[in-house]
Amino acid sequence: MVSSIQQITKRGMRSISDLYQQVRARTLEIVAPLEIEDYVVQTAEFMSPPRWHIGHTTWFFETVLQKYQPGYQTYSEDFLFFFNSYYEGFGQRIERPKRGTRSRPTVAETVAYRAHIDEHMARFIAQISNHEQAENILAILRLGLEHEMQHQELLVYDIKHLLCDQFDAPIAAAPRAIETVSGMAEVDGGLFELGYGADRHAGEPPAGMGALQRPIPFAFDNEKPQHKVFLQDFLIDRAPVSNGDYLEFMKAGGYQNFRWWHSAGWERVNSERWQAPLYWEQREGAWMIRDFAGLHDVSNKLNEPVYHVSFLEASAYAKWAGKRLPTEAEWEKAASFSPALNAKREFPWGDAPIDKHFGNLFENGLWAVAPIGAFPKGQSSYGCQQMIGDVWEWTISDYSPYPGFKSEFDEYNDKWFVGQKVLRGGSFATPRSHIRTTYRNFFHPEERWMVSGFRCAKDAG
Ligand SMILES: [Fe+2]
Repeated sequence: MVSSIQQITKRGMRSISDLYQQVRARTLEIVAPLEIEDYVVQTAEFMSPPRWHIGHTTWFFETVLQKYQPGYQTYSEDFLFFFNSYYEGFGQRIERPKRGTRSRPTVAETVAYRAHIDEHMARFIAQISNHEQAENILAILRLGLEHEMQHQELLVYDIKHLLCDQFDAPIAAAPRAIETVSGMAEVDGGLFELGYGADRHAGEPPAGMGALQRPIPFAFDNEKPQHKVFLQDFLIDRAPVSNGDYLEFMKAGGYQNFRWWHSAGWERVNSERWQAPLYWEQREGAWMIRDFAGLHDVSNKLNEPVYHVSFLEASAYAKWAGKRLPTEAEWEKAASFSPALNAKREFPWGDAPIDKHFGNLFENGLWAVAPIGAFPKGQSSYGCQQMIGDVWEWTISDYSPYPGFKSEFDEYNDKWFVGQKVLRGGSFATPRSHIRTTYRNFFHPEERWMVSGFRCAKDAG
């Protein structure tokens, strides 16, 4: 008779095996339209060449084999050096700005490395339930797959920076706005349970197709523990700030007036000559937006969320509009709390898994934002729309550990707890199974090559 822990491990192993194949295949699907020359070019210090991502996500799993597979032979010391990102604990590595300065390992060699590790992993996963550290290994494999999903999103950002509309993305038809979304929602303050609550997801992981969608409940250590915070009553925008809204700020001289900007923001405006979000360009006096589908007159995109804005720009807009950015606790309450149930739910619409009617995630295939009002079915109890998907939303909160934080994996989240801001909600480049209302993304305040937008908040009364 097998113990229940072994049963859970066996079931977890089956779903990890499915998820492993699904996630690893998707990375290669994303890069499939690239030409060989595209894989190795680094267009900015902050981006990485696609070849590096496909090698690095593989390197992660090789470190698991090195640690847990007795007798495993390292594939290549050179690959360990080239494909480590920032992990001090795993030794020397190439500096990030130099990832695009080498033509070797070649793309073919990197793909062969990937196949080699996948073969080993298939055998390794099949035997996990016999391993005395089975539960630890399942946890680290799951982390590796969430890590790869993060890199899938980074690949979308980096391919956009590299090629933008020259990339032959398999773009699906965009949905239309079903309703007009405007104004702000009123949210009562009081005590709120911020963060991921482990007990909500206790019990056995789902089997069958459900297991493929959500194999084992997962949250990063930085979302835990759930803890009480006190909120004042507040208002929050029912929709993300649109290109039309943002254009008004630009037309009102927003980028020319120091009074809306933090000091760090005004410095950037001047040193980087910011006049608009990244990927906006001026043609004969008119603003245009370039995306994967081509160059568009902004007048055709007024009702879409603005994105590729930094925290500094989002803050300047909010000040100009007489508002402010929400705290992450305000954002999470507006996204997850149901006053009728007096409880948090997994998603704004409830606990049903994400499908294409709830929000715009990677599987929707748009490679761009959807119009505001395209997902009324995905609205929160407070009537806030598009909180999940479309654009990551800047909050005013510093990325720091929650009280009671315990690191679950060295150098993954904990070493970044300084100097960055929290973003919430996921984007059109985020895989569906990767996002939750408690998910805390983080970037530096001046960064804007990622899919970053925002909505504003305001104190009540
Ligand atoms: Fe990484």
